[in-house]
Amino acid sequence: MFSKVLKWAARIVLGLVVIVLTVYGVFNFIFRQHASKKYTVTVRNIPIPNDSATIAEGRHLYEIKGCGECHGADLRGKVVVDDPAIGRIAGNNITYGTGGLPESYDNTDWLKALRHGLNTANKPLLLMPSEEFTRMDDHDIAAIIAFCRAQPKIDAPSIPIEMGPMGKILSVMGKIPLFPAEKIDHHKEQPNQVAKAATKEYGQYLAASCTGCHKPALTGGDNPVPGAVPVANITSTGHVGKWSQHDFITTLRTGKTPEGKQLQVKDMPWNMTAQYTDEELTALYLYLRSL
Ligand code: HEC
Ligand code: HEC
Repeated sequence: MFSKVLKWAARIVLGLVVIVLTVYGVFNFIFRQHASKKYTVTVRNIPIPNDSATIAEGRHLYEIKGCGECHGADLRGKVVVDDPAIGRIAGNNITYGTGGLPESYDNTDWLKALRHGLNTANKPLLLMPSEEFTRMDDHDIAAIIAFCRAQPKIDAPSIPIEMGPMGKILSVMGKIPLFPAEKIDHHKEQPNQVAKAATKEYGQYLAASCTGCHKPALTGGDNPVPGAVPVANITSTGHVGKWSQHDFITTLRTGKTPEGKQLQVKDMPWNMTAQYTDEELTALYLYLRSL
């Protein structure tokens, strides 16, 4: 009697293991299909100046677009996610030092990475938010590239990306945005230059950097990082609707909201928004208030 029960229990456990492995196998297969998809794109080449004013603009953009969050302030690369279940994801060394970009990595390759989310083999770059960068105008993209290319070479190994089982499953389910290339309209041409001024139009242009977390409509919702705090609604129907321009600027520079909440950099990256100029924050405020 007892051995019969044991036998059945063993069969059930074995059956469950087989089911779990099969399901995981399917997820793994779909993940590989996404990761190995090869794209055909025509990169529109634009001139990349190398004067000091452009490089300085590029430095500011490198800071406000959060490149340093994943590639480090000095471009040597940085581990972004390191979790046994999710995986290890690191932005690579994007200097021309040993372990970084090869000497042959040219302006077309930079544009392909930033505007199309693809590597030199035309395969998707993981996690790199190119669906936001692709919305930048020629002037700004050129300035970022000019800045990056002007940085000193650093010898530091790029840490290879290794996805864990949970990371693959969540990405296939669309819970973590691993394949920005899939969200890009690869034929869309960006304007030459958007007018920089304290206007809501310029605010809309800048808000591309907020949509990854606050969602395209900026009304917030689930956090793209599994298990993290929900993302706030930052349109006029949220707290921002009650804030003065001064409140808004102070919040984005200090992380302290008028309601007395201290935003944590790991949730809301105000270390990044603190780098915006007054003009940029005013433009963002005007745009968000118009929603
Ligand atoms: C959220 C993290 C994140 C941010 C922000 C980010 N990157 Fe990346 N980037 C990555 C990761 C991860 C890779 C490696 C992806 C891969 O190899 O699949 C990468 C790769 C690259 C590459 C190498 C492409 C190649 O062909 O190997 C370049 C160049 C680059 N990023 C530039 C930038 C610049 C410039 C910015 C800011 C405008 C930026 N990145 C912002 C995560 C990020
Ligand atoms: C990496 C994800 C991320 C990005 C990028 C991001 N935010 Fe946030 N933001 C959050 C999260 C999460 C919260 C809620 C934090 C909390 O409740 O503690 C938040 C909160 C806020 C708040 C406070 C809202 C309130 O009701 O108190 C403002 C304002 C804000 N974000 C503005 C912006 C703007 C403007 C941008 C773009 C320039 C931006 N955020 C980019 C994740 C992000």
